[in-house]
Amino acid sequence: MMKKIILVLFFLAFPISSFAENANSEDKKAFIDDLLSKMTITEKVGQLRLVSVGGNLTLDKVLDQIEAGEIGGIFNTVVEPDLSNMQDRALKSPNKIPLFLGFDVIHGHRTVFPINLGIASTWDRNAIGKAAQVSADEATSDGLNITWSPMVDITRDPRWGRVSEGFGEDPYLTSEAGRIFVKNMQKQILTDNKSLVTTVKHFALYGAVEAGREYNSTDMSERKMFQEYLVPYKAAIDAGSRAVMVSLASVNGIPATANHWLLTDVLRHQWHFDGVVISDHGAIRELINHGVASDPKDAVRVAIKAGIDVSMNDEYFLKYIPELINEGVLTDDEINQACRHVLELKYDMGLFTNPHRNLDRQLDIDTMFANNRLHREEARDVARRSIVLLKNKNKVLPLAKNQKIAVIGPLADSKRDMLGSWSGAGRVNLAVTPLEGIQKAVKNPNLVSYAFGANLSDDQQLYKFLNLYDMTAKYDERPADTMIAEAVKQANKADVVVAFVGEAEGMAHESSSRTDLSLPASQKRLIKALKATGKPLVIALMNGRPLTLTEEFEQVDAMLETWFLGTEGGNAIADVLFGDYNPSGKLAMSFPMSVGQIPVYYSHLNTGRPKGTVNMGKYTTSYFDSPNEPLFPFGFGLSYTNFTINYSLSSNEMTKNGEIVVTATVENIGDKQGTQTVQLYLQDVTATVSRPVKELMGFENINLKPHEKGEVKFVIKPEMLKFWNDKMQYVAEPGKFNVFVGSDSTTQNKQSFTLLDK
Ligand code: NOJ
Repeated sequence: MMKKIILVLFFLAFPISSFAENANSEDKKAFIDDLLSKMTITEKVGQLRLVSVGGNLTLDKVLDQIEAGEIGGIFNTVVEPDLSNMQDRALKSPNKIPLFLGFDVIHGHRTVFPINLGIASTWDRNAIGKAAQVSADEATSDGLNITWSPMVDITRDPRWGRVSEGFGEDPYLTSEAGRIFVKNMQKQILTDNKSLVTTVKHFALYGAVEAGREYNSTDMSERKMFQEYLVPYKAAIDAGSRAVMVSLASVNGIPATANHWLLTDVLRHQWHFDGVVISDHGAIRELINHGVASDPKDAVRVAIKAGIDVSMNDEYFLKYIPELINEGVLTDDEINQACRHVLELKYDMGLFTNPHRNLDRQLDIDTMFANNRLHREEARDVARRSIVLLKNKNKVLPLAKNQKIAVIGPLADSKRDMLGSWSGAGRVNLAVTPLEGIQKAVKNPNLVSYAFGANLSDDQQLYKFLNLYDMTAKYDERPADTMIAEAVKQANKADVVVAFVGEAEGMAHESSSRTDLSLPASQKRLIKALKATGKPLVIALMNGRPLTLTEEFEQVDAMLETWFLGTEGGNAIADVLFGDYNPSGKLAMSFPMSVGQIPVYYSHLNTGRPKGTVNMGKYTTSYFDSPNEPLFPFGFGLSYTNFTINYSLSSNEMTKNGEIVVTATVENIGDKQGTQTVQLYLQDVTATVSRPVKELMGFENINLKPHEKGEVKFVIKPEMLKFWNDKMQYVAEPGKFNVFVGSDSTTQNKQSFTLLDK
C-alpha cells in the first residue's frame, strides 16, 4: 500500500511527459555529443551550408559534396526523385547525416493560394490555417522537410514590392497569421509525416526599409521595434518556429547578418531561441558592400561572431571557417554550437531514424504537377474570402447570371498573373483566369464577351524589367487606340463592364520597388474610355500592394480588390461577382491617397497638435494639399449586406489581475446572408510615453442571415494593456483606456474603462 502511495506521489511530482522529454533530451544530447566527437571540421562546416543546384554548382558537384559531408541542407529542388537521390548520397557521407530539404513555400505549393497580403485580408483564422496546412501537406508529400516561411515583416510602405509576401501593417494581425502558419505547417510534433519546419523571416524589420527601396537600410527606435516591428517574429518563435532567416538589410547601422545585438542578445538571450539561424541568400558576401567586412574571410568571421549558424547559398564557409579556426579567430566552441543547433533540429525532426520521410514514391514530373494532386476547393474558398469589396454604388454588384457582361483588361485572361510572386512549385497552366471563371459561372457563356483593351503599360522599360529572366509579360504591338476601340465596342453591347486592371505579378515581388503607385497611363485611358460608354463599370484590381486609386474610385461604380488570388482565382472572383459568395475580406494594409502620404497607417501616435477643423487645419498636423487619411483604411471592406454593431463592457473598472468582457451585438440589417469581422481596438489615453491612437487587439467573424442578430465576445486582460514604458519596461500603467469596437480601424464607437492600481 505504502509503495503504491509513494509511486502515485512520485508520478504527481514528475509528470510522465516531462520524464519522456528529459529522457529524450538526454538521449539527444548524448547522440549529438557522440556525433560531434566523430565529425571532422569539414563535416561540421558542411552542416552549416545550405546550397542549391545552379550556375557553376551542377547537380553532380552538389551530389559529390553531399557525399563528402560538405553540405547540410539543399534548397530549390522540388522533384522527389532528385531529393531522394540527394538524401541517399547524404547517407553515404562519413557520418551519414541526413539533409534538410528546403523550399520557399510562401502561399501554397502545388496549389497556389492568394498572396499573403490577400490571405491576411480574410481576417479568418480558419482560412489562414487552411492555406498553411494544405501548403505543408503538399510540400511534405513531395519530400520537403523545411521551408522559408512565414514572412512576418510589418509593412507600411507599399513602394516596397515585398509587401505582397507579408500580412500587412499591423503587429497583432501579422502575429496571428504568423503563429497560425507555424502551427499549421510545422505542427506540434516534428516527426509528424506532414510537419514542415518553419523559418520565420526576415529577422528583423526588413519591411521598414527606407523609402520602400529594396535592400535599403532600416533605422528605428528600440521602443518602436519592441512595441511593434519585432512582435510578429517573437510570436512565431513562441509558437515554436524552429528556424529564423535573417534580413538582408541593416538595422540601426549594422547589417542584420552582422548584428550581434539582434541575433545574439535579443534572439538568443532575451527570447531564448534555441533553433537554427539562417542567413539570407548571399547575405554573407554582401557584408563587404555594407562596409562591415573587408573581404570574404572577414565576412565569415563577422557573420559567425554575430550569431549566424547556417549560410544560405554558401560560398565561403567551407573555405574560410577552417582557416579562421586555425588562426584562433573563431573557436571550436563557436562552430560546435552552430552545428549543434542544426543537429538538434534534425534529431527532433526524426531525420536520423527516418531520413527518407515522404521520399519513397519516386513521383515522375507529370505526376508531381498533375491536376489531381491539387486542393482546388480549399484554394477557391480561401481566395474568395481574400477579396475585398471597396465600393458598390447603387448595388451594381452582385451581377445577375443572365446579364451581358463585357470582361475587359490586360489581366482578365492572364494565367501567368494569377499566381503572384514566390509560387515556384505552382503551374501557370493550371490556374483559372477571371474570364474562365466568369464564363463557367454564367448560364449562357455567349453572354460573356472579352477584349484585352490595353497593355499593362506603355513603358517598354517595364516590359524589359518584367521579362529580364523569363518571358512573363507580353506586349501587344497593336496601336493603343485599336485596342481601346475593341474594348469600347464590347462594352457598348453589354449590360455591365468588368475591367481587370492593376499590376503584372512581376511588379510586386522581391526587388520590385516602385515610386509611382498609380495605374499606368495605358490602363487609365482604358478606364476612362469604358466610363464614357455610360455602362455600369466594375473594376477588379489585381495587384500585390496598395495602389493609389483616388481617380478610379471616383470613376467606377464598383471596385473589388482581388490581389493575386492563386490557382483558383478566376473561380473565386466569379463567386463574388455573382454573389455566390458575399465578400467578407478586410484590408490588412491602408491604401494611401498618394505616395506623398506614405507611411500612412492607422496606429500612429497622436501629436501635440492633432488635426484641427478650423482655419483649414493650419498649425495642426496636416497637409495643405491632401487629407491625412488614406483612401481605404486598415480593416476596411464592404459586404453585399449591412451590419450594425453595438457593444457593452462588463465593467468600467479593471483590477490588476482582472478582466473586462466586451459583448458586441451584431445585426445583419440587409437582405443577404453575410460575414462581418468585428474588430476590437484599444487606446491607452495617458501613459509615460505617447501611445497609438488605436491598436488592434482582437477580431472575430460572425456569419448572419438577413435580419439575424448574433453576439461576439472579447476578453480584455491586463496583458493586453502592456507596453514598453519610459524606462523600457514592459508594463501596464494604471489609468484610462478607450475601447473601440467596429467594422474597420476608423470606428469611433468608443467606450472607456479605468485600470486600477490594485
Ligand atoms: C531570398 C529571399 O529574400 C528569401 O525570402 C528567400 O527565402 C530566399 N531568397 C530563398 O529563396
